[in-house]
Amino acid sequence: MLILGIETSCDETSASVVEDGDVVLSSIVHSQEDVHARWGGIVPELACREHVQKIRETVEGALLVAGTGIGAMSAIAVANRPGLIGSLLVGVEFAKSLAWSAEVPLIDVHHLEAHIYANFLCHPEIELPLVSLVVSGGHTAYYLSRSKIDHEMIGSTIDDAVGEAFDKVAKMLGLGYPGGPAIDKIAGTGKPDAYDFPRTFKNSAHNNLSFSGLKTAVLYRLFGPEGKDRRTVPPDEAADVAASFQEAVVDVTTYKLLRAAQETGARSVGIAGGVAANSRIRKIATERAAAAGLPVYMPSMELCTDNAAMVAGLGFHLFKAGLYDSDYEVNADPTPIRAE
Ligand code: KG4
Ligand code: ZN
Repeated sequence: MLILGIETSCDETSASVVEDGDVVLSSIVHSQEDVHARWGGIVPELACREHVQKIRETVEGALLVAGTGIGAMSAIAVANRPGLIGSLLVGVEFAKSLAWSAEVPLIDVHHLEAHIYANFLCHPEIELPLVSLVVSGGHTAYYLSRSKIDHEMIGSTIDDAVGEAFDKVAKMLGLGYPGGPAIDKIAGTGKPDAYDFPRTFKNSAHNNLSFSGLKTAVLYRLFGPEGKDRRTVPPDEAADVAASFQEAVVDVTTYKLLRAAQETGARSVGIAGGVAANSRIRKIATERAAAAGLPVYMPSMELCTDNAAMVAGLGFHLFKAGLYDSDYEVNADPTPIRAE
């Protein structure tokens, strides 16, 4: 059974054809990095316009590479929540029209649950229940998955997302956008214990996280007590700040991931979303999971960042379970996820 997946929730236009939820026949990702780089972050209006321009060729490309056509699809899956409203709307309206004209069901997919599903695409052997840390540019949360379609949020950031914090610290260090990969790179040459940055909520009983204090601590460390003494940070100091900032994020997120897994009786842990590509989080999560006797799963690099293969893959299971709206009444829903 073939599912066409469409993903436009943030700044990647992506389409993919996946067979039976696990064989990726094509995955086309058009990144808007160049469009946003000069502004130092995502400009929602530009993201939306770029999706409008690229959506058609991206979907045609995915069908072409898969060697198939729209008539062979059993359903179309689209990420409709959460995300940037203008961006989501492009994918949702395109998918809705296509599904209606091809007379196939339209399946609405939660973007963060699709990130979790990226691990099932890469590692079919995952044993459930699974506790995942989803770390992306706009969202950060822990999820308990009892099946491939049953995901319960058990905690989240109360302010900044991890990717957002990486991007903002990179900006302070003059590293450009997107900041995550740039911090990852220079942190490799810095000392992770050079500065003792805060690990907010590390020992709190709940599973929530907070990164605004950490971001402010980096700002004050670099630019004085009010963050106003702007200067160009020398490379050695930038590497130490990047490494120490990254260490604080990785320490608190992986510590609480393993703790949540133990508290919920999970049999596996996972990391997903763009920041799951970070080399330090991959290393520390692997070490901590081994110490706890739990297998840890991370998607391949291409499936960490936004892609439609994870949307099509999860869409297949929702379709099989009958969890879709056959009246094409799916809407974009930008409401951010929040801890209770
Ligand atoms: O999941 P994603 O592609 O998009 C959203 O759904 O937001 O995540 C993008 C985020 C960006 O903030 C980017 O800086 C971060 O993932 N990122 C990384 C790395 N690669 C991407 N952060 C840290 N280290 C990396 N290697
Ligand atoms: Zn994402």
